[in-house]
Amino acid sequence: MIRRFTAGEPILTDAAVRQIPAESIAAFPYPHCRDGSRFSFTFPLEDGEIVYGLGEAPRGINKRGWLYKSFCSDDPFHTEDKHALYAAHNFLLHGGPLGGLGGIFRGIFIDFPAEIVWDIGYTRPEEAVITLDGTDFDIYLIEEETPRAVVREFRALIGKSYIPPFWAFGFLQSRWSYYNADAVKDVIRGYDEARIPLDGVCLDIDYMERYKNFTVNGEAFPDLRRFAAELKAQGIHLIPIIDAGVKKEDGYGVYEEGRDRGYFCKNADGSDFEGAVWPGIVGFPDFLRPEVREWFGEKYRVLTDLGIDGFWNDMNEPAIFYSAKGLKEAYEKAARLRGEELDLTGFFALKDAFARLDNSPDDYASMFHEIGGRPVNHLHVHNLYGASMTRAAGEFFEKEFGKEKVLLFSRASYIGAHRHGGIWFGDNHSWWQHILLCLRMLPSANMCGFLYCGADLGGFNGDATPDLLLRFLALGVFTPLMRNHSALGTRSQECFRFGDPAPFRDIIQVRYRLIPYLYQTFRRAAEAGDMMFRPLSFDYPDDPIARECETQLLLGEECMIAPVCEQNASGRTVYLPEEMCFVKLSGERIVSKEVLPKGLHYVRVALNEVPLFLKKGKTVPLCRPALRTAQLDTETSENLTW
Ligand code: GLC
Repeated sequence: MIRRFTAGEPILTDAAVRQIPAESIAAFPYPHCRDGSRFSFTFPLEDGEIVYGLGEAPRGINKRGWLYKSFCSDDPFHTEDKHALYAAHNFLLHGGPLGGLGGIFRGIFIDFPAEIVWDIGYTRPEEAVITLDGTDFDIYLIEEETPRAVVREFRALIGKSYIPPFWAFGFLQSRWSYYNADAVKDVIRGYDEARIPLDGVCLDIDYMERYKNFTVNGEAFPDLRRFAAELKAQGIHLIPIIDAGVKKEDGYGVYEEGRDRGYFCKNADGSDFEGAVWPGIVGFPDFLRPEVREWFGEKYRVLTDLGIDGFWNDMNEPAIFYSAKGLKEAYEKAARLRGEELDLTGFFALKDAFARLDNSPDDYASMFHEIGGRPVNHLHVHNLYGASMTRAAGEFFEKEFGKEKVLLFSRASYIGAHRHGGIWFGDNHSWWQHILLCLRMLPSANMCGFLYCGADLGGFNGDATPDLLLRFLALGVFTPLMRNHSALGTRSQECFRFGDPAPFRDIIQVRYRLIPYLYQTFRRAAEAGDMMFRPLSFDYPDDPIARECETQLLLGEECMIAPVCEQNASGRTVYLPEEMCFVKLSGERIVSKEVLPKGLHYVRVALNEVPLFLKKGKTVPLCRPALRTAQLDTETSENLTW
């Protein structure tokens, strides 16, 4: 059962694809109040009740005990003290046998693109308080007997998830940056010589001419069309990055067109809002306008015409390093303080004047969009920005090439964008705890429709060690997007860089053996509006240990995954909610199969092994591995079963 409550005049987000008749907010069943320009509502949190949702967000699968914010944020430190990451996925699910809703489960979807604060037992452990920074919104409530049924109903509301081309289930290698065609060739050679499967190489910002979208640095990539074709013939796809901001430069066609047609976001006085990102000063296309989406989407043709069929959209929260106005104010503050005897307060004011320039609320507040011919402040629609960029690209690809032809994943997102592309979880670190963070985001993102997703394997920031990368990959074997990516200035972390490549080959070959199974599981989830990964508590609601499990996931109907997430550990403790077969896969081998009874077990897993737990009577097909998805004989060569 689904109900929609409308207050004021909500901004149209197109997140929902089904029309549900609107009821007045007066009928909204949670205690609620309007406090000036904000709306908030509360619900009690019962002992043992689990709160799921929020998609890509910090902390656990169970969101209780912390304060989260829906505000797409470019923050490269994904630590526990954070409230938001790059996405705004406004869906929550609670209730159940231990909840206060008479046993039923309830999904709450807040279709509202400005900031939302989700205090889920942070201020008062026994209460959730949700506060919207505005009073015009739609809230949908979905009630069902099981959490999975709530998710299915929600997904029917928001429409089917994006399905990428088959090759996008192959392994992808990325780095900021492979500076020229030779560097890309070296990477492919490295993988081929190590006989490690690979299907794509991502090109980071340096493939462009001075970071200008839809241009190619001709010195670094003298003939991208030929190069892309050469690689295609080898089964390798190039996946260039596109950033949200368009470099301000006279003579640069994309910029001039955007400026002349009035397509960039504006200041209050109607002039173009300008901020600095990688290219220097940029204009931010007003992706919320359909004509701007169409215009920007069409620009991808420059690259699709060269044979490119994969893209990642970045910096689309949008990230703003500084604005001309912010920088001017900082200089003015510095000038005022110059020569003064600074006390500590003065010193920190001076420091902060510069340290707080990036992604500043003041800049967002001085940026305007145009909706229905009227200016709308960016803060009212912030969370739609990246999603609308994804939509611009996705709609172009679908119109031009049909469904499932072009790979697309984005950094920022809002529910609705799941129909047009996937997401990656942004700039994580080469930290062990980030393996777990990735695992925990998978079911949450799945609930919100984002099925094609994954983290930067090996970690983006910081230096990876081979054991970390191997363990990260052993989780990445299961994530639809399986990409190794790392930042400028960090240790190289391609899989052949750490001496003996055999353990890496062993892990990535397992992925290729599983691709037909993973692809099928993914497709089923996409078509049925289901999740590919579920928390254990979804399937074992009465099992107290399963209910609290935050380090294992159910995958499809057949298995459970439980990666090793600690350094120097030769295994881990795993909880089996029922009798299962513990399988270790490595390269082309099934290393071992052992039926274990329900309960807690310590299982040993070597660095070159992928652990998998198979349910009784279930079968996971394995095919023979290959170096490319295109060479996979997707017929089953062996059935994993017991
Ligand atoms: C951002 C992206 C990262 C990319 C970098 C340079 O930090 O999140 O993936 O490598 O920009 O383009």
